[in-house]
Amino acid sequence: MKEILIEVSNLSRIYHVGDSDIAALNKVGLSISKGEFVSIMGPSGSGKSTFMNLIGCLDTPSSGTYMLEGIDVSCLVRDELAEIRNNKIGFVFQGFNLLSRTTALENVELPLLYSGMPARQRRERALDALRTVGLEDRIDHQPNQLSGGQQQRVTIARAIVNNAPIILADEPTGNLDTKTSAEIMDLFVRLNRDSGITVILVTHENDIAAYGRRLVRFRDGSIISDEATS
Ligand SMILES: Nc1ncnc2c1ncn2[C@@H]1O[C@H](COP(=O)(O)OP(=O)(O)O)[C@@H](O)[C@H]1O
Ligand SMILES: [Mg+2]
Repeated sequence: MKEILIEVSNLSRIYHVGDSDIAALNKVGLSISKGEFVSIMGPSGSGKSTFMNLIGCLDTPSSGTYMLEGIDVSCLVRDELAEIRNNKIGFVFQGFNLLSRTTALENVELPLLYSGMPARQRRERALDALRTVGLEDRIDHQPNQLSGGQQQRVTIARAIVNNAPIILADEPTGNLDTKTSAEIMDLFVRLNRDSGITVILVTHENDIAAYGRRLVRFRDGSIISDEATS
């Protein structure tokens, strides 16, 4: 039996805008085991990002439960969520969200600043992560001195520097050309296979989704299919 990492049940998220309520997620249930590589697809507005924000502890559900490594995180307060986020989850988004005028090395070190780790050890860890993504020769470059693919590699290094067991990637190849997208996807595959990192990835491209081993489809805030792909 595979160890369950993420388990959500009846998860709903309703946004209140003016007088109307938008049910972005409607009683979603899903469990994900340690080491899985799950692709999520669905039309624009179907709730994918809302789901990722909840899974990533960036947001809390309107109702339902979310168990992460057996801990009920649906009822935690902000500081507790921030701590879980910092230790358990690495984020990779479409826009690279790197600090400008800040070197690759410093960007990757950022998540370690909260941990009180000594500077030297921080640097070692960040270097290690940059090596893992193949950017050891670009550590002193700032984002505007790097290609899109290289910037996304920095983001991935930043996502793994804390040894987080989960990577959440929301359209990580959305701004990249086909060849660079394939390189980034190979990197996710390698992290999943070699380091056992659980990868959950949102994409609207079939080719990209095919890198995962399970495909979950959303529509109108619900899961409409969930199947193994290879
Ligand atoms: N912060 C928000 N406030 C109000 N409505 C939102 C907010 N975020 C998303 N929504 C709405 O929730 C639904 C799901 O959005 P989202 O999760 O971003 O979909 P997807 O990522 O699949 O495109 C959409 O109808 C969207 O307009
Ligand atoms: Mg989205």
